[in-house]
Amino acid sequence: MIEKTIIALRLEAEKELAACTDASGVEALKVKFLGKKGRIAGLMMSLKDAPKEERPALGMQINELKVALEQQISSTHLRFESEELACRLAKEVMDVTLPGRRAHLGREHIITKTINEAIDILVGMGFSVQYGPDIESDFYNFEALNFSEDHPAREMHDTYYISKQFCLRTHTSNTQVRVMESSTLPIRIIAPGKCFRNEDVSARSHVQFNQVEGLYIDEEVTFADLLQTLQEFFTQFFGQSVQLRHRPSYFPFVEPGMEVDLHCLECGGKGCSLCKQSGWLEVAGAGMVHPEVLKSGGIDPEVHQGYAWGLGIERLALLRSGIKDIRLFLENDVRFLDQF
Ligand code: DAH
Repeated sequence: MIEKTIIALRLEAEKELAACTDASGVEALKVKFLGKKGRIAGLMMSLKDAPKEERPALGMQINELKVALEQQISSTHLRFESEELACRLAKEVMDVTLPGRRAHLGREHIITKTINEAIDILVGMGFSVQYGPDIESDFYNFEALNFSEDHPAREMHDTYYISKQFCLRTHTSNTQVRVMESSTLPIRIIAPGKCFRNEDVSARSHVQFNQVEGLYIDEEVTFADLLQTLQEFFTQFFGQSVQLRHRPSYFPFVEPGMEVDLHCLECGGKGCSLCKQSGWLEVAGAGMVHPEVLKSGGIDPEVHQGYAWGLGIERLALLRSGIKDIRLFLENDVRFLDQF
């Protein structure tokens, strides 16, 4: 009885296999006959109904059928697969004369590069690097720097407030009192980082920019030290001797305070659009640390003095590479960024 079924099953499977027209049809057939709940498995189950002495011989026959079907099915499957692949490839048109696509290599952003160069020069001059937070308390960003709550100079900062007490830092000067509180004297640090101000975006100003703060506090620090340090820094940065001009200016956290201008490298001082025809470009604010700020940081102004500066990084990058528009730094246009 089972023997007949075995023969019938073989014929049926072979007929169906011969009728298959593609690889997926063969896959379905495989499940139907050889799957866990397939016909062969069913046949094996039915062995238990056969007389005991016939079972081993019948079992062998079923196994032979299984092996034979496996072979036929897999070779048919392989044949269809390679035919289908050949068909697909024949339809694909390949133009071997097209230029290949070049892998695009990333590179450091020009601003990161400029910051790192400034750091390298200043570290070479004896400063160490400290970082302050981007989100800052009103205390470190303003109050400890001698901006009282109603100080008019606060208005110049167009501050983004996060809450009544916290803001996005408007300058890297926020690091000054933090460093004074956590360091032993003398202090000789620089603090690079992002700053934020709610300004109109234009070719010359942006809501996000970078500064490098400098701070030196010791027992005999003079204004001449400050001038000399800045002169040395700019000379190294631009790789040529540069002419600086110092204009008295007001920042609540320094006294005296000044703005530092660089003789325009673009026009050599004759006047151009970059320097707004003045021949000079503002590159930093600086001054002698105000006694009130030293006190905020727990330092006795009778014994110690210091100088500080804030450098505008975008301005330096702009000047050295002859870029006319500060917005380009944040637009992520690879055609622009690739040049540096
Ligand atoms: N924090 C000032 C600004 O962003 C720049 C500045 C001026 C920093 C004088 C200083 C300084 O350390 O002494 O406008």
